[in-house]
Amino acid sequence: MGSVSLKIGDGTARFRRATICSSAVNGLMLFSVLTTNLFALYAFTWNPKGHSNSHENPLLQAHKNMSLITEQVSLIMKEIESSQKKLAQMEKELLGYESIDLSNPNIASELKTYLQRHVLPLGKDSKTGITEMVASVGHSCSKSMDMLSQYMNYKVNGQCPDDWSLAQKLILRGCEPLPRRRCFAKTIAKVGNLYPFPASLWKPVNDKIVSWSGMACKNFTCLNSKKLSKDCVGCFDLVNGYENQRFIKARGKNDFLIDDVLAMGGGGTRIGLDIAGGSGTFAARMAEKNVTVLTQTLNVDAPYNEFIAARGLFPLFLSLDHRFPFYDNAFDLVHAGSALDVGGKPEKLEFLMFDIDRVLRAGGLFWLDNFYCASDEKKRDLTRLIERFGYKKLKWVVGEKGGSGQSEVYLSAVLQKPAKMELAWKDS
Ligand SMILES: *[C@@H]1O[C@H](CO)[C@@H](O)[C@H](O)[C@H]1NC(C)=O
Ligand SMILES: *[C@@H]1O[C@H](CO)[C@@H](O)[C@H](O)[C@H]1NC(C)=O
Ligand SMILES: *[C@@H]1O[C@H](CO)[C@@H](O)[C@H](O)[C@H]1NC(C)=O
Repeated sequence: MGSVSLKIGDGTARFRRATICSSAVNGLMLFSVLTTNLFALYAFTWNPKGHSNSHENPLLQAHKNMSLITEQVSLIMKEIESSQKKLAQMEKELLGYESIDLSNPNIASELKTYLQRHVLPLGKDSKTGITEMVASVGHSCSKSMDMLSQYMNYKVNGQCPDDWSLAQKLILRGCEPLPRRRCFAKTIAKVGNLYPFPASLWKPVNDKIVSWSGMACKNFTCLNSKKLSKDCVGCFDLVNGYENQRFIKARGKNDFLIDDVLAMGGGGTRIGLDIAGGSGTFAARMAEKNVTVLTQTLNVDAPYNEFIAARGLFPLFLSLDHRFPFYDNAFDLVHAGSALDVGGKPEKLEFLMFDIDRVLRAGGLFWLDNFYCASDEKKRDLTRLIERFGYKKLKWVVGEKGGSGQSEVYLSAVLQKPAKMELAWKDS
C-alpha cells in the first residue's frame, strides 16, 4: 500500500490552513471507507467455481481473504492516525509553539545562555512555588531563528551591533519580548540639546541627538517632506504646518478639542495612554493640562521614540500585538487613531479592544480620533464591537474628508467605560 503524502503549502495562509488540514483528514477518511467497502464487495461477490485454484477449500480461502481485509483496514487506520499526528506537529511548527531547541548547534551561544533555566539555589520558593528562573522570549521567535541568532551574536560586555532595525523586524514577526542582551547600546550624546520642561515640548529636535541607522531619512528635513502614516503627516515639524495646532484647533467636525474632552471626563483625567501616538503631540498637549500620557509607538521609518523622549515625554516602545504592560483599570484615558486598524480578521481588533478596555478604568474615556474607515465593512465591524462593550457614546461623529470624488470616511468618538457591576458584553 502506498503511503499518503500531504502538501500543506508554505504556511503563510494562516487562516486557510485549518481547513486544508481538516479536508486532508476528511480525504483520508473517505479513502479508508472506500477501500474497506471495495474489499468487502470483492470478498462477497467473488465466485469460487470459475477459478483455477478452486481445489482449495473456498471457506478457508474466504477466511484468509477476510483476515487480509482486516489487516488492510487496520493498516489504513494506522496511516490515518499517524497522519493526524503529523498534521498536529505541522500546525505546531507553523505557529511556532514548539520551544526553541537548545541542542541545535546553529543557535548563538549567548541565546543558549540566556534561555537556559536557572535552578533556584535554595530550592522551591515558598511564596511563588517556583523552583527555577525562566527567561521570557516570544514564542514566535522560533520562526525567525536565523534573524534571532544574528541578533544574539555579539561580543559579551562589548558594544552592541547597531541593529535596531533588525530588532524591530523580529518584534514585528511576533518575537516579543526579545531576549535580553549583555552588551552596551550605542550612546548618543544629548548634552547641550535639551530644554527644560515644559519648553522642551515644542522645541525642534536636533538631527544629531537621534539615531538614524536603518532608516531611509537621515534628518528631520527629509522626514517632514514624507507622509509617514495616516496619524503622522508632517508630525515631526513642530514649527510649521498643523502639528502645533492639533487638539486645540479643529479642521473639521472629526477633530475634537482637548478642553472639551477633558470636560467630559469630569476632572478625573490624570493619566492616559496614546496608542500609536506619532511624535507625541497628544501627550504634549495633555502635559500642558497636567495630564501624564504615555505614547506607544515603534520606530517604523522614523525615530519616534527618541523624538518623544527629547520633548520630555514618555515613549513606550511596544508593538500592538503585545499585551499592554499595565495592570487592569490603570488609565483614565486611552487615545487612538487609525492605528487601531490592525488588519486581518475581526478577532484581531477584538484582541486589541479588549486590552484597551482592560487597562481603562470604569468611567474612563476612550477617545477614538479620526479612525479611517477603509471600507463600510470596517466601520460596521468597529461600530458593532464598540457597541458590544456597552460604552456610553459621549460624542460620535462620522465625517468625510477630501472632495473631488474620492472622499474618505472617518470616525471620531469619545466613549465612556461603564462601571461594570456585571458583564456588559452584548452578544449580537
Ligand atoms: C482470495 O484472494 C486471492 C488473491 O488474493 C484470490 O485469488 C481468491 O479468489 C480470493 N478468494 C476469496 C474466497 O475471496
Ligand atoms: C537631509 O537629508 C537629505 C537626504 O536624506 C539630504 O539630501 C539633505 O541635504 C539633508 N539636509 C540637511 C539639512 O542636512
Ligand atoms: C498644572 O499644575 C501647575 C502646578 O501644580 C499649576 O500651576 C497649573 O495651573 C496647572 N495647569 C493646569 C492647566 O491645570
